[in-house]
Amino acid sequence: MIRFDAFTKTWPDGTRALSDISLEIPRGQFCVILGPSGAGKSTLLRAVNGLVRPTHGSVAIDGIVLTPATERALRKRMAMVHQHFNLSERLSVASNVLAGLLPVVSTWRALLGWFKPEHRARACQLLAGVELSPEHLKRRAGALSGGQQQRVGVARAFINAPEIVLADEPVASLDPKISRDILTLIRDTARACNATVLCSMHQIDLAREFADRVIGMRDGRVVFDGPPHAFTDARVAELYHGARWEDDPETQPPLDAAGSRTYLKIA
Ligand SMILES: Nc1ncnc2c1ncn2[C@@H]1O[C@H](COP(=O)(O)OP(=O)(O)O)[C@@H](O)[C@H]1O
Ligand SMILES: [Mg+2]
Repeated sequence: MIRFDAFTKTWPDGTRALSDISLEIPRGQFCVILGPSGAGKSTLLRAVNGLVRPTHGSVAIDGIVLTPATERALRKRMAMVHQHFNLSERLSVASNVLAGLLPVVSTWRALLGWFKPEHRARACQLLAGVELSPEHLKRRAGALSGGQQQRVGVARAFINAPEIVLADEPVASLDPKISRDILTLIRDTARACNATVLCSMHQIDLAREFADRVIGMRDGRVVFDGPPHAFTDARVAELYHGARWEDDPETQPPLDAAGSRTYLKIA
């Protein structure tokens, strides 16, 4: 369980990227974060692995509050998938996947390429799972197509059997067909190991297709939180095109028939 408790992040320049976020995300949920650019999606994801520290409030994983003292241990239980893949382009596909073990393998072992046989076996299994053939293993990652690079990124994220996968716009630079393939991979691989996924994106149709839960953000606040079928076209319009936040912390809007809360009021 990931639990945000009144999490607020104000950058030194005064920008409030997250405002009083309280959320509980149970283990195994595929949670899609939507919202216009600047809404705070990346900041929210980075709060979970401690790259963003709260100005107020906290985030906790299974009851352990993320602090400088706990974040090293907690980070070993997480992995990230990035928009621009973040592979070492000059290294082989296999090395890139094994790099996902760096948090748990000593640096000198990693530098010398001394990975345990079970880690190598897991890398091969994952690469097969993401439909990269054995002949891809030794190729330079930079020589692959974008879709193939993201497959490597997904395999790298899952090699350490993470409990939480943070995917920040993992399909933003891929075409629609490949985007669907990559999201299928992330969802199915996460299901197989009961990992929680927090995935930001911009494609409404893909969000509805893949999410167990949609979280809509605007101006650093959660303005929609519900199942994908409740994220209707009207909600989409509210999220992206100027409805007004009903800024009254005393009044929690009621659950509607679809089981979602709508925090927006049309201006
Ligand atoms: N390191 C930073 N310093 C100052 N402002 C930042 C920093 N990172 C993000 N921001 C600001 O915080 C807000 C939220 O950003 P971000 O989380 O990246 O939004 P999103 O991912 O939804 O596009 C934006 O106004 C952005 O400009
Ligand atoms: Mg972002």
